[in-house]
Amino acid sequence: MTAADSFRSFWVDSAPTSSYPALAADSDCDVVVIGAGIVGVTAAHRLSSEGARVTLLEARHIGAGATGYTTGKVSSLNGLVYARLAEDFGAETARVYGEANEAGLATIADLVAQHGIDCDFRRKPNFTYTESAGGRTALEREVEVARSIDLPAGLAEGAEELPFPIAAAVRFTDQAEFHALRYLQGLAAAAVSAGCTIHEQTRVVGVGRGKPCRVATEDGSVVRAGAVIVATHLPILDRGLFFARTHAERSYALLVRLTGDVPQGMYLSDESSAHSLRAVPTKGGERLLVGGESHKAGHGDPVARYEELERWTRERFEVEAIEHRWATQDHISHDLLPFVGRLWPFGASLLTATGFRKWGLAMGTSAAETLAELALGRKHAWADAFDPARLSLRHGLGSFVKENADVGARFVGDRVIKRRRQEELAPGEGTVVGAGLGQRAVYRDDSGALHSFSARCTHLGCILNFNSAERTWDCPCHGSRFDATDGGVVEGPAVRPLADADDPS
Ligand code: FES
Repeated sequence: MTAADSFRSFWVDSAPTSSYPALAADSDCDVVVIGAGIVGVTAAHRLSSEGARVTLLEARHIGAGATGYTTGKVSSLNGLVYARLAEDFGAETARVYGEANEAGLATIADLVAQHGIDCDFRRKPNFTYTESAGGRTALEREVEVARSIDLPAGLAEGAEELPFPIAAAVRFTDQAEFHALRYLQGLAAAAVSAGCTIHEQTRVVGVGRGKPCRVATEDGSVVRAGAVIVATHLPILDRGLFFARTHAERSYALLVRLTGDVPQGMYLSDESSAHSLRAVPTKGGERLLVGGESHKAGHGDPVARYEELERWTRERFEVEAIEHRWATQDHISHDLLPFVGRLWPFGASLLTATGFRKWGLAMGTSAAETLAELALGRKHAWADAFDPARLSLRHGLGSFVKENADVGARFVGDRVIKRRRQEELAPGEGTVVGAGLGQRAVYRDDSGALHSFSARCTHLGCILNFNSAERTWDCPCHGSRFDATDGGVVEGPAVRPLADADDPS
Protein backbone atom coordinates (compact mmCIF):
# COMPACT_ATOMS: atom_id res chain seq x y z
CA MET A 1 0.00 0.00 0.00
CA THR A 2 1.36 3.44 -0.94
CA ALA A 3 1.12 6.60 1.20
CA ALA A 4 -1.56 7.89 -1.16
CA ASP A 5 -3.58 4.68 -0.67
CA SER A 6 -3.63 5.35 3.08
CA PHE A 7 -5.42 8.63 2.44
CA ARG A 8 -8.10 7.49 -0.01
CA SER A 9 -11.48 8.87 0.95
CA PHE A 10 -14.27 6.69 2.28
CA TRP A 11 -16.16 7.55 -0.92
CA VAL A 12 -13.38 6.21 -3.15
CA ASP A 13 -13.03 3.07 -1.02
CA SER A 14 -16.76 2.34 -1.09
CA ALA A 15 -17.44 2.80 -4.81
CA PRO A 16 -16.34 0.76 -7.81
CA THR A 17 -13.52 2.19 -9.93
CA SER A 18 -14.81 3.43 -13.27
CA SER A 19 -13.06 2.14 -16.40
CA TYR A 20 -13.79 4.12 -19.55
CA PRO A 21 -11.18 3.70 -22.31
CA ALA A 22 -8.45 6.28 -22.90
CA LEU A 23 -8.70 8.38 -26.05
CA ALA A 24 -6.78 6.55 -28.79
CA ALA A 25 -7.40 8.60 -31.97
CA ASP A 26 -8.39 12.06 -33.19
CA SER A 27 -12.11 12.79 -33.24
CA ASP A 28 -14.75 15.51 -33.70
CA CYS A 29 -17.77 16.51 -31.63
CA ASP A 30 -19.95 19.49 -30.70
CA VAL A 31 -18.66 20.04 -27.16
CA VAL A 32 -15.59 18.74 -25.34
CA VAL A 33 -15.86 18.72 -21.55
CA ILE A 34 -12.51 18.56 -19.74
CA GLY A 35 -12.69 17.08 -16.24
CA ALA A 36 -15.12 14.51 -14.81
CA GLY A 37 -16.02 16.08 -11.48
CA ILE A 38 -19.45 17.39 -10.53
CA VAL A 39 -19.37 20.24 -13.06
CA GLY A 40 -18.00 18.23 -15.96
CA VAL A 41 -20.22 15.15 -15.60
CA THR A 42 -23.36 17.24 -15.00
CA ALA A 43 -22.65 19.42 -18.04
CA ALA A 44 -21.88 16.37 -20.19
CA HIS A 45 -25.12 14.71 -19.11
CA ARG A 46 -27.19 17.83 -19.72
CA LEU A 47 -25.71 18.51 -23.17
CA SER A 48 -25.99 14.88 -24.27
CA SER A 49 -29.60 14.82 -23.12
CA GLU A 50 -30.22 17.79 -25.41
CA GLY A 51 -28.80 15.90 -28.39
CA ALA A 52 -25.32 17.47 -28.53
CA ARG A 53 -22.37 15.23 -29.45
CA VAL A 54 -20.25 15.40 -26.30
CA THR A 55 -16.79 14.02 -25.50
CA LEU A 56 -15.81 14.02 -21.81
CA LEU A 57 -12.04 13.78 -21.18
CA GLU A 58 -10.70 12.98 -17.70
CA ALA A 59 -7.01 12.81 -16.71
CA ARG A 60 -7.59 10.12 -14.07
CA HIS A 61 -10.99 8.60 -13.14
CA ILE A 62 -14.49 10.00 -12.71
CA GLY A 63 -14.63 11.87 -9.40
CA ALA A 64 -10.90 11.42 -8.69
CA GLY A 65 -10.55 15.10 -7.75
CA ALA A 66 -12.51 17.20 -5.28
CA THR A 67 -15.86 15.45 -5.85
CA GLY A 68 -14.47 12.11 -4.64
CA TYR A 69 -13.03 13.74 -1.50
CA THR A 70 -15.89 16.02 -0.47
CA THR A 71 -18.07 15.89 2.65
CA GLY A 72 -21.03 15.16 0.37
CA LYS A 73 -23.29 17.97 1.64
CA VAL A 74 -25.76 19.40 -0.86
CA SER A 75 -27.00 22.67 0.54
CA SER A 76 -27.70 26.33 -0.02
CA LEU A 77 -26.50 27.08 3.53
CA ASN A 78 -22.81 27.75 2.88
CA GLY A 79 -21.53 28.80 6.29
CA LEU A 80 -22.36 32.48 6.73
CA VAL A 81 -22.46 34.08 3.30
CA TYR A 82 -25.79 35.74 2.53
CA ALA A 83 -25.39 38.77 4.80
CA ARG A 84 -21.93 39.42 3.30
CA LEU A 85 -23.17 39.00 -0.27
CA ALA A 86 -26.09 41.35 0.35
CA GLU A 87 -23.72 43.91 1.85
CA ASP A 88 -21.07 43.62 -0.89
CA PHE A 89 -23.23 43.11 -3.99
CA GLY A 90 -26.83 43.87 -2.97
CA ALA A 91 -29.83 41.71 -2.20
CA GLU A 92 -30.39 40.64 -5.81
CA THR A 93 -26.98 38.97 -6.13
CA ALA A 94 -27.47 37.26 -2.77
CA ARG A 95 -30.86 36.05 -4.03
CA VAL A 96 -29.36 34.66 -7.26
CA TYR A 97 -26.64 32.86 -5.27
CA GLY A 98 -29.27 31.25 -3.04
CA GLU A 99 -31.56 30.44 -5.94
CA ALA A 100 -28.74 28.74 -7.88
CA ASN A 101 -27.84 26.62 -4.85
CA GLU A 102 -31.43 25.58 -4.20
CA ALA A 103 -31.85 24.78 -7.90
CA GLY A 104 -28.68 22.65 -7.85
CA LEU A 105 -30.05 20.72 -4.87
CA ALA A 106 -33.37 20.18 -6.67
CA THR A 107 -31.60 19.07 -9.86
CA ILE A 108 -29.55 16.47 -8.00
CA ALA A 109 -32.68 15.15 -6.26
CA ASP A 110 -34.45 14.91 -9.65
CA LEU A 111 -31.53 13.14 -11.34
CA VAL A 112 -31.18 10.64 -8.48
CA ALA A 113 -34.87 9.78 -8.82
CA GLN A 114 -34.97 9.87 -12.64
CA HIS A 115 -32.00 7.51 -13.09
CA GLY A 116 -32.42 5.47 -9.91
CA ILE A 117 -28.90 6.33 -8.77
CA ASP A 118 -27.93 4.36 -5.63
CA CYS A 119 -26.07 7.05 -3.68
CA ASP A 120 -27.64 7.23 -0.18
CA PHE A 121 -29.34 10.55 -0.98
CA ARG A 122 -30.97 11.69 2.27
CA ARG A 123 -32.84 14.90 3.03
CA LYS A 124 -31.43 16.54 6.16
CA PRO A 125 -31.44 19.92 7.90
CA ASN A 126 -28.19 21.84 7.66
CA PHE A 127 -26.89 23.99 10.51
CA THR A 128 -24.24 26.67 10.86
CA TYR A 129 -23.70 26.87 14.61
CA THR A 130 -21.72 28.93 17.09
CA GLU A 131 -20.39 27.74 20.44
CA SER A 132 -19.91 31.33 21.62
CA ALA A 133 -22.58 33.79 22.78
CA GLY A 134 -20.73 36.48 20.83
CA GLY A 135 -21.33 34.64 17.57
CA ARG A 136 -25.11 34.86 17.84
CA THR A 137 -25.51 38.31 16.27
CA ALA A 138 -23.96 37.24 12.96
CA LEU A 139 -26.23 34.18 12.85
CA GLU A 140 -29.31 36.29 13.48
CA ARG A 141 -28.32 38.61 10.64
CA GLU A 142 -27.73 35.63 8.31
CA VAL A 143 -31.21 34.29 9.06
CA GLU A 144 -32.76 37.71 8.48
CA VAL A 145 -31.13 38.11 5.05
CA ALA A 146 -31.72 34.49 4.02
CA ARG A 147 -35.42 34.68 4.88
CA SER A 148 -35.74 37.95 2.96
CA ILE A 149 -34.63 36.15 -0.22
CA ASP A 150 -36.94 33.16 0.31
CA LEU A 151 -34.42 30.65 1.61
CA PRO A 152 -35.67 28.05 4.14
CA ALA A 153 -33.88 29.64 7.11
CA GLY A 154 -34.59 29.80 10.82
CA LEU A 155 -32.69 30.34 14.07
CA ALA A 156 -32.25 27.28 16.26
CA GLU A 157 -31.47 27.84 19.94
CA GLY A 158 -29.75 24.48 20.15
CA ALA A 159 -29.02 21.44 18.04
CA GLU A 160 -30.34 18.67 20.24
CA GLU A 161 -28.33 15.87 18.72
CA LEU A 162 -24.92 17.45 19.27
CA PRO A 163 -23.27 16.17 22.47
CA PHE A 164 -21.70 19.56 23.23
CA PRO A 165 -23.40 22.90 23.98
CA ILE A 166 -23.91 25.51 21.29
CA ALA A 167 -25.14 29.09 21.62
CA ALA A 168 -27.31 29.19 18.48
CA ALA A 169 -27.48 27.93 14.91
CA VAL A 170 -28.79 28.96 11.51
CA ARG A 171 -31.00 26.13 10.33
CA PHE A 172 -31.93 25.46 6.68
CA THR A 173 -34.59 22.80 6.21
CA ASP A 174 -34.85 20.14 3.49
CA GLN A 175 -31.21 20.13 2.45
CA ALA A 176 -29.42 16.88 1.53
CA GLU A 177 -26.37 14.65 1.83
CA PHE A 178 -25.25 11.80 -0.43
CA HIS A 179 -22.40 9.59 -1.64
CA ALA A 180 -21.05 12.06 -4.20
CA LEU A 181 -18.86 9.57 -6.05
CA ARG A 182 -21.57 6.95 -6.54
CA TYR A 183 -23.89 9.75 -7.69
CA LEU A 184 -21.31 10.96 -10.19
CA GLN A 185 -20.69 7.46 -11.54
CA GLY A 186 -24.44 6.94 -11.95
CA LEU A 187 -24.81 10.28 -13.73
CA ALA A 188 -21.88 9.46 -16.02
CA ALA A 189 -23.58 6.18 -16.97
CA ALA A 190 -26.77 8.13 -17.72
CA ALA A 191 -24.75 10.55 -19.88
CA VAL A 192 -23.31 7.63 -21.86
CA SER A 193 -26.83 6.27 -22.35
CA ALA A 194 -27.73 9.68 -23.77
CA GLY A 195 -24.86 9.46 -26.28
CA CYS A 196 -21.87 10.99 -24.43
CA THR A 197 -18.41 9.52 -25.07
CA ILE A 198 -16.15 9.32 -22.00
CA HIS A 199 -12.38 8.83 -22.01
CA GLU A 200 -10.52 8.40 -18.71
CA GLN A 201 -6.72 8.38 -18.30
CA THR A 202 -6.68 11.12 -20.94
CA ARG A 203 -4.93 14.28 -19.80
CA VAL A 204 -5.60 17.45 -21.77
CA VAL A 205 -2.50 19.63 -22.11
CA GLY A 206 -3.83 22.51 -24.19
CA VAL A 207 -6.66 24.01 -26.20
CA GLY A 208 -5.90 25.79 -29.45
CA ARG A 209 -7.78 28.92 -30.42
CA GLY A 210 -9.83 29.13 -33.57
CA LYS A 211 -12.82 27.31 -34.99
CA PRO A 212 -13.15 24.50 -34.34
CA CYS A 213 -11.34 24.41 -30.99
CA ARG A 214 -8.53 21.84 -30.97
CA VAL A 215 -8.20 20.02 -27.65
CA ALA A 216 -4.74 18.45 -27.39
CA THR A 217 -4.04 15.49 -25.12
CA GLU A 218 -0.84 14.25 -23.54
CA ASP A 219 -0.44 11.32 -25.94
CA GLY A 220 -0.87 13.55 -29.01
CA SER A 221 -4.50 12.80 -29.91
CA VAL A 222 -6.71 15.81 -30.70
CA VAL A 223 -10.45 16.35 -30.35
CA ARG A 224 -12.01 19.12 -32.45
CA ALA A 225 -15.16 20.77 -31.11
CA GLY A 226 -17.31 23.85 -31.52
CA ALA A 227 -17.17 24.60 -27.78
CA VAL A 228 -15.04 23.50 -24.83
CA ILE A 229 -16.00 23.42 -21.15
CA VAL A 230 -12.95 23.46 -18.88
CA ALA A 231 -14.19 21.81 -15.68
CA THR A 232 -10.83 21.06 -14.09
CA HIS A 233 -11.38 22.61 -10.66
CA LEU A 234 -9.02 25.53 -11.38
CA PRO A 235 -8.88 25.93 -15.18
CA ILE A 236 -5.80 24.22 -16.61
CA LEU A 237 -5.58 27.07 -19.14
CA ASP A 238 -3.99 30.26 -17.84
CA ARG A 239 -6.00 32.66 -19.90
CA GLY A 240 -8.52 33.90 -17.37
CA LEU A 241 -6.00 34.63 -14.60
CA PHE A 242 -8.25 32.62 -12.29
CA PHE A 243 -5.15 31.57 -10.39
CA ALA A 244 -4.78 35.23 -9.37
CA ARG A 245 -8.42 35.64 -8.37
CA THR A 246 -8.71 32.51 -6.24
CA HIS A 247 -6.54 30.74 -3.72
CA ALA A 248 -6.44 27.01 -2.98
CA GLU A 249 -7.29 25.76 0.51
CA ARG A 250 -6.55 22.25 1.69
CA SER A 251 -8.68 20.65 4.41
CA TYR A 252 -8.91 17.31 6.18
CA ALA A 253 -11.55 14.70 6.97
CA LEU A 254 -11.98 11.76 9.33
CA LEU A 255 -14.59 9.00 9.23
CA VAL A 256 -15.23 8.11 12.85
CA ARG A 257 -16.99 5.23 14.62
CA LEU A 258 -18.59 6.57 17.80
CA THR A 259 -19.50 4.65 20.91
CA GLY A 260 -22.94 6.28 20.93
CA ASP A 261 -25.44 7.55 18.39
CA VAL A 262 -24.28 9.62 15.43
CA PRO A 263 -25.95 13.08 15.10
CA GLN A 264 -28.15 13.00 12.02
CA GLY A 265 -28.12 16.67 10.98
CA MET A 266 -25.41 18.37 8.92
CA TYR A 267 -23.35 20.92 10.83
CA LEU A 268 -20.68 23.56 10.28
CA SER A 269 -19.11 25.66 13.01
CA ASP A 270 -18.55 29.41 12.71
CA GLU A 271 -14.91 29.08 13.87
CA SER A 272 -12.28 30.84 11.78
CA SER A 273 -11.14 27.39 10.70
CA ALA A 274 -14.59 25.82 10.51
CA HIS A 275 -15.40 22.22 11.42
CA SER A 276 -17.90 20.18 9.45
CA LEU A 277 -20.02 17.23 10.65
CA ARG A 278 -22.45 14.83 9.03
CA ALA A 279 -23.58 11.21 9.40
CA VAL A 280 -22.52 8.64 6.82
CA PRO A 281 -24.30 5.31 6.30
CA THR A 282 -21.82 2.44 5.87
CA LYS A 283 -22.12 -1.34 5.74
CA GLY A 284 -21.06 -1.37 9.40
CA GLY A 285 -23.63 1.22 10.49
CA GLU A 286 -23.72 4.99 10.82
CA ARG A 287 -20.41 6.82 11.07
CA LEU A 288 -19.54 10.47 11.75
CA LEU A 289 -17.64 12.44 9.12
CA VAL A 290 -15.60 15.27 10.66
CA GLY A 291 -13.91 17.82 8.40
CA GLY A 292 -11.84 20.93 8.96
CA GLU A 293 -8.40 22.32 9.78
CA SER A 294 -8.17 24.18 6.47
CA HIS A 295 -5.04 25.98 5.41
CA LYS A 296 -3.66 27.45 2.27
CA ALA A 297 -2.60 24.59 -0.02
CA GLY A 298 1.13 23.88 -0.06
CA HIS A 299 1.66 25.54 3.33
CA GLY A 300 1.84 24.05 6.80
CA ASP A 301 2.26 20.54 8.18
CA PRO A 302 -0.47 18.06 7.08
CA VAL A 303 0.45 15.52 9.79
CA ALA A 304 -0.12 18.17 12.48
CA ARG A 305 -3.47 19.09 10.88
CA TYR A 306 -4.72 15.51 11.08
CA GLU A 307 -3.64 15.38 14.73
CA GLU A 308 -5.44 18.64 15.49
CA LEU A 309 -8.62 17.43 13.77
CA GLU A 310 -8.52 14.24 15.82
CA ARG A 311 -7.99 16.25 19.02
CA TRP A 312 -10.98 18.51 18.19
CA THR A 313 -13.13 15.44 17.54
CA ARG A 314 -12.15 13.59 20.71
CA GLU A 315 -12.90 16.70 22.79
CA ARG A 316 -16.52 16.61 21.61
CA PHE A 317 -17.38 12.96 20.90
CA GLU A 318 -16.81 9.50 22.40
CA VAL A 319 -14.59 8.05 19.67
CA GLU A 320 -14.34 4.28 19.28
CA ALA A 321 -12.16 4.26 16.15
CA ILE A 322 -11.06 6.41 13.25
CA GLU A 323 -11.67 4.38 10.09
CA HIS A 324 -10.63 6.76 7.29
CA ARG A 325 -8.49 9.85 6.89
CA TRP A 326 -8.31 11.97 3.77
CA ALA A 327 -7.61 15.48 2.54
CA THR A 328 -9.00 17.59 -0.24
CA GLN A 329 -8.72 21.10 -1.59
CA ASP A 330 -10.85 23.71 -3.25
CA HIS A 331 -10.42 27.15 -4.74
CA ILE A 332 -11.71 30.19 -2.90
CA SER A 333 -12.76 33.16 -5.01
CA HIS A 334 -11.60 36.56 -3.81
CA ASP A 335 -15.15 37.97 -3.66
CA LEU A 336 -17.22 34.94 -2.44
CA LEU A 337 -18.95 34.34 -5.79
CA PRO A 338 -17.99 31.48 -8.14
CA PHE A 339 -16.75 32.16 -11.67
CA VAL A 340 -19.08 30.59 -14.23
CA GLY A 341 -19.02 31.45 -17.91
CA ARG A 342 -16.56 32.41 -20.61
CA LEU A 343 -12.92 31.61 -20.02
CA TRP A 344 -12.28 35.32 -19.68
CA PRO A 345 -11.01 37.29 -21.59
CA PHE A 346 -11.13 35.07 -24.70
CA GLY A 347 -14.09 34.13 -26.98
CA ALA A 348 -17.43 32.53 -26.33
CA SER A 349 -16.42 28.97 -27.22
CA LEU A 350 -14.22 28.39 -24.15
CA LEU A 351 -16.21 28.10 -20.92
CA THR A 352 -15.30 27.33 -17.32
CA ALA A 353 -16.47 27.24 -13.71
CA THR A 354 -14.32 27.55 -10.58
CA GLY A 355 -14.06 29.19 -7.15
CA PHE A 356 -16.83 27.32 -5.30
CA ARG A 357 -15.36 27.89 -1.80
CA LYS A 358 -15.83 24.20 -0.81
CA TRP A 359 -19.54 24.33 -1.68
CA GLY A 360 -19.32 22.89 -5.18
CA LEU A 361 -21.98 20.16 -5.19
CA ALA A 362 -25.22 22.17 -5.40
CA MET A 363 -23.58 25.23 -6.96
CA GLY A 364 -21.42 23.11 -9.26
CA THR A 365 -24.57 21.42 -10.56
CA SER A 366 -26.16 24.79 -11.33
CA ALA A 367 -22.88 26.02 -12.82
CA ALA A 368 -22.93 23.03 -15.16
CA GLU A 369 -26.50 23.81 -16.21
CA THR A 370 -25.44 27.39 -16.91
CA LEU A 371 -22.39 26.32 -18.93
CA ALA A 372 -24.50 23.88 -20.95
CA GLU A 373 -26.88 26.67 -21.90
CA LEU A 374 -24.02 28.95 -22.88
CA ALA A 375 -22.37 26.17 -24.92
CA LEU A 376 -25.63 25.80 -26.82
CA GLY A 377 -25.58 29.50 -27.60
CA ARG A 378 -28.34 30.47 -25.19
CA LYS A 379 -28.49 32.98 -22.34
CA HIS A 380 -28.91 32.01 -18.70
CA ALA A 381 -30.44 34.02 -15.88
CA TRP A 382 -27.52 33.40 -13.50
CA ALA A 383 -24.74 34.11 -15.98
CA ASP A 384 -24.36 37.83 -15.19
CA ALA A 385 -23.97 37.36 -11.43
CA PHE A 386 -21.21 34.75 -11.86
CA ASP A 387 -19.62 36.17 -15.00
CA PRO A 388 -15.82 35.57 -14.86
CA ALA A 389 -15.34 38.95 -16.53
CA ARG A 390 -16.79 40.80 -13.56
CA LEU A 391 -14.46 43.44 -12.24
CA SER A 392 -15.33 43.07 -8.60
CA LEU A 393 -12.03 43.85 -6.95
CA ARG A 394 -13.86 46.43 -4.86
CA HIS A 395 -15.59 43.51 -3.13
CA GLY A 396 -12.53 41.43 -2.44
CA LEU A 397 -9.61 43.76 -2.78
CA GLY A 398 -8.09 42.87 0.60
CA SER A 399 -7.99 39.17 -0.09
CA PHE A 400 -6.87 39.68 -3.71
CA VAL A 401 -3.87 41.78 -2.66
CA LYS A 402 -2.94 39.48 0.23
CA GLU A 403 -3.06 36.27 -1.79
CA ASN A 404 -1.12 37.66 -4.72
CA ALA A 405 1.54 39.23 -2.51
CA ASP A 406 1.97 35.81 -0.95
CA VAL A 407 2.24 34.13 -4.36
CA GLY A 408 4.87 36.69 -5.37
CA ALA A 409 6.95 35.64 -2.39
CA ARG A 410 6.71 31.98 -3.40
CA PHE A 411 7.94 32.72 -6.90
CA VAL A 412 11.28 33.80 -5.55
CA GLY A 413 11.42 30.64 -3.49
CA ASP A 414 11.47 31.71 0.13
CA ARG A 415 11.29 28.75 2.44
CA VAL A 416 9.01 28.51 5.44
CA ILE A 417 10.00 24.90 5.97
CA LYS A 418 13.45 24.18 7.29
CA ARG A 419 15.70 22.63 4.65
CA ARG A 420 17.72 19.50 5.22
CA ARG A 421 20.52 17.75 3.42
CA GLN A 422 19.36 14.84 1.30
CA GLU A 423 21.73 12.52 3.18
CA GLU A 424 19.70 13.22 6.32
CA LEU A 425 16.39 12.05 4.84
CA ALA A 426 14.78 9.04 6.50
CA PRO A 427 12.41 6.82 4.44
CA GLY A 428 9.19 8.74 3.74
CA GLU A 429 10.83 12.18 4.02
CA GLY A 430 11.45 14.85 1.41
CA THR A 431 13.29 18.16 1.21
CA VAL A 432 14.27 20.87 -1.27
CA VAL A 433 18.02 21.20 -1.85
CA GLY A 434 20.16 23.57 -3.90
CA ALA A 435 19.56 27.19 -4.87
CA GLY A 436 18.15 29.31 -7.68
CA LEU A 437 17.07 27.54 -10.86
CA GLY A 438 18.86 24.39 -9.72
CA GLN A 439 16.66 23.72 -6.69
CA ARG A 440 15.71 20.06 -6.46
CA ALA A 441 12.83 18.27 -4.74
CA VAL A 442 14.30 15.11 -3.22
CA TYR A 443 12.27 12.28 -1.66
CA ARG A 444 13.47 9.04 -0.05
CA ASP A 445 10.97 6.18 -0.45
CA ASP A 446 10.41 3.30 2.00
CA SER A 447 13.04 1.15 0.29
CA GLY A 448 15.63 3.90 0.80
CA ALA A 449 15.82 4.97 -2.87
CA LEU A 450 16.04 8.70 -3.62
CA HIS A 451 13.76 10.38 -6.20
CA SER A 452 14.89 13.78 -7.43
CA PHE A 453 13.05 16.32 -9.58
CA SER A 454 13.21 20.00 -10.34
CA ALA A 455 11.55 21.78 -7.39
CA ARG A 456 9.84 24.26 -9.75
CA CYS A 457 6.10 23.75 -10.24
CA THR A 458 5.35 23.20 -13.92
CA HIS A 459 2.40 25.62 -13.78
CA LEU A 460 4.18 28.93 -13.21
CA GLY A 461 7.42 28.01 -11.49
CA CYS A 462 6.88 28.38 -7.72
CA ILE A 463 9.07 26.28 -5.42
CA LEU A 464 7.27 23.19 -4.08
CA ASN A 465 6.83 22.01 -0.48
CA PHE A 466 6.84 18.38 0.67
CA ASN A 467 3.53 16.97 1.93
CA SER A 468 4.66 14.62 4.67
CA ALA A 469 1.29 12.86 5.00
CA GLU A 470 0.50 11.98 1.40
CA ARG A 471 4.10 12.17 0.18
CA THR A 472 3.45 14.58 -2.63
CA TRP A 473 5.11 17.81 -3.71
CA ASP A 474 2.55 20.60 -3.18
CA CYS A 475 2.66 24.04 -4.72
CA PRO A 476 2.10 26.97 -2.33
CA CYS A 477 0.97 29.30 -5.15
CA HIS A 478 -2.10 27.78 -6.82
CA GLY A 479 -2.43 24.26 -5.43
CA SER A 480 -0.84 21.94 -8.01
CA ARG A 481 0.42 18.67 -6.54
CA PHE A 482 2.89 16.09 -7.85
CA ASP A 483 3.69 12.48 -6.99
CA ALA A 484 6.96 12.30 -5.03
CA THR A 485 8.01 9.03 -6.66
CA ASP A 486 7.44 9.69 -10.35
CA GLY A 487 6.81 13.46 -10.49
CA GLY A 488 3.39 12.98 -12.19
CA VAL A 489 0.58 15.50 -11.77
CA VAL A 490 -1.75 14.59 -8.91
CA GLU A 491 -3.73 17.82 -9.00
CA GLY A 492 -3.75 20.80 -11.38
CA PRO A 493 -3.75 23.47 -12.65
CA ALA A 494 -0.35 22.06 -13.76
CA VAL A 495 -0.63 19.58 -16.63
CA ARG A 496 3.04 18.60 -17.04
CA PRO A 497 5.02 16.32 -14.70
CA LEU A 498 8.00 17.64 -12.78
CA ALA A 499 11.19 17.86 -14.81
CA ASP A 500 13.91 15.41 -14.00
CA ALA A 501 16.43 17.08 -11.69
CA ASP A 502 19.19 16.53 -14.17
CA ASP A 503 17.12 18.20 -16.86
CA PRO A 504 16.00 21.53 -15.40
CA SER A 505 14.19 22.49 -18.59
FE1 FES B 1 0.70 27.78 -10.11
FE2 FES B 1 2.32 26.00 -8.96
S1 FES B 1 0.18 25.88 -9.20
S2 FES B 1 2.85 27.92 -9.83
